[in-house]
Amino acid sequence: MCGIIGYIGKRNPVEILIEGLKKLEYRGYDSAGIALKGNDIEVIKSVGKISNLEDKINNSNIIDSNIGIAHTRWATHGEPTEINAHPHTIGNITLVHNGIIENAKELKEKLQNKGIKFNTSTDTEVVAALIDYYYKGNTKEAIEKAIKELKGSYALAIINKDEDKLYAVRCESPLILGIGEEEYFVTSDIGAILPYTKNYVLLGENEIVTLSKDNYIIEKDDTKVFRKVEISNLSIEDTSLNGYDHYMMKEINEEPILVDNLVKKYINNIDKLPDLKKYKNIHIVGCGSAYYAGMIGKYLFEDDGIKVECDVASEYRYRNIIYDKDTLVILISQSGETADTIAAMRKANDSQVDTLAIVNVESSTIERESTYSVLIEAGKEIAVATTKAFILQVLILSLLSYKINPDDKYKEDIKKLPQQLKVLLDKTGFYKKLADSIYKHEDVFFMGRKVDYAISMEGSLKLKEVSYIHSDSYQAGELKHGTISLVNEGTIVFAIVTDDEIRDKTISNLEEVISRGAKPIYVGNVDVNYEDKIIIPKVHKKLQPILAVPPLQMIAYFVALKRGCDIDKPKNLAKSVTVE
Ligand code: G6P
Repeated sequence: MCGIIGYIGKRNPVEILIEGLKKLEYRGYDSAGIALKGNDIEVIKSVGKISNLEDKINNSNIIDSNIGIAHTRWATHGEPTEINAHPHTIGNITLVHNGIIENAKELKEKLQNKGIKFNTSTDTEVVAALIDYYYKGNTKEAIEKAIKELKGSYALAIINKDEDKLYAVRCESPLILGIGEEEYFVTSDIGAILPYTKNYVLLGENEIVTLSKDNYIIEKDDTKVFRKVEISNLSIEDTSLNGYDHYMMKEINEEPILVDNLVKKYINNIDKLPDLKKYKNIHIVGCGSAYYAGMIGKYLFEDDGIKVECDVASEYRYRNIIYDKDTLVILISQSGETADTIAAMRKANDSQVDTLAIVNVESSTIERESTYSVLIEAGKEIAVATTKAFILQVLILSLLSYKINPDDKYKEDIKKLPQQLKVLLDKTGFYKKLADSIYKHEDVFFMGRKVDYAISMEGSLKLKEVSYIHSDSYQAGELKHGTISLVNEGTIVFAIVTDDEIRDKTISNLEEVISRGAKPIYVGNVDVNYEDKIIIPKVHKKLQPILAVPPLQMIAYFVALKRGCDIDKPKNLAKSVTVE
């Protein structure tokens, strides 16, 4: 993972790089660093959040410069220490890296045999050493030779202490070139440079861009490459807190309007969405919450009479999948850049079956390489724990299911969703009170059957990732086959009960845990006689999850707030997981 940004132009880059890193912090936040190129190169690094690096810079006399590179890290090779933080320097070359070099060990041994000394245990330092090894007066040529030997993924921003230039190259990890007025940027994400420019160029794999203050050249294997300048439709407001204390809360509150936008776009123009009726098998693949959205999709499409398998991408990519010819593989990914989901997509593409991407980021790898794609149009999602993107992924799946099996009740109900969501989200006092009764617990369980199980998986994930409370979710009928032994007096058990067909069964399972001391929190669309309950409106079955999940997102938020957690950047996590 990691986030990188580089600048060359007329300004001092420090503020641009630091503010950019703050926008990239969602990509990792173990440690951060910056390198400035003036008469010499100055490198400043620090462990922890960007604010630590900022304090360090504010307390030092930094050199005059117009060129710089910076990095926020999610450690893969080497612990998150200051010495392992990027940028890394060997000889003339200083660089930052996002990705994993899989053959770093062999390359390192080869370079060590040639007498090159290393200071860290990172794979990135090996790249710096390799480029420096090939550097004989032409940096671009050295980069070209070095990347031919690299195996794995990389986005690199590189400076040479003897040149007023900035170089960048990518393979599998994202990197774009930002084009300002007499200034250029390279970054993992356009969001980091939006205050300065919306114009950007997507760099193809292994294309090397050489930037000087007044021009840029993109080359691959010594041939110039011309790439279209794109204009981002993101605005700075998309990346600001807009008065909220946390992005997570801001993003949950965007759900009604974003749902409304998608409903208006598709409900009377359902032809704009792909037709899934022609497929006999559907595989749905994703990671984390995207996988749970996929599980909801599985129940929807199965009810439509299609055979569905749902897998986490890291398993799917290595399983021996037997593809029938009428198979569609749906890839769900907010970022469109999750390494395992990309690999799953390529596996399906290589097997000549159709792929459909449900993604948020336009022009992301998954969006570009899939046979079909649908954008969820969530705008920028910054909180590491996904909320609005999850809801919109489910909405698209639900609309696809409606297209297979249309009915009037659905059409009626879907229009009511935005208002119903708004009412649900406005009950903040209620969620806070529930959170008060949860936040001191160290174990919480969730349960549900069928689609309610998928909903409970997402509720449980949300709670544990932001509040660090241990939480697990079980199929309601399965809890008694082991886990029930963990239920003690007062253990909180959420029961998700929205599916009419299995309501009584789940309630019976809830009673089993209550009789062993559990304190239930019921989440359902039929009122019941439990003390703690979240009653959601009863809507068409294909839409029910869209109303059941937001209250669970709210509870996770308020529990995390009570526990003083870093809500938008939970420990050890990163939003865009571009490594296996
Ligand atoms: C990370 C995030 C999750 C997300 C998952 C998949 O683990 O923390 O919130 O669901 O990656 O990301 P994607 O961008 O593929 O949806």
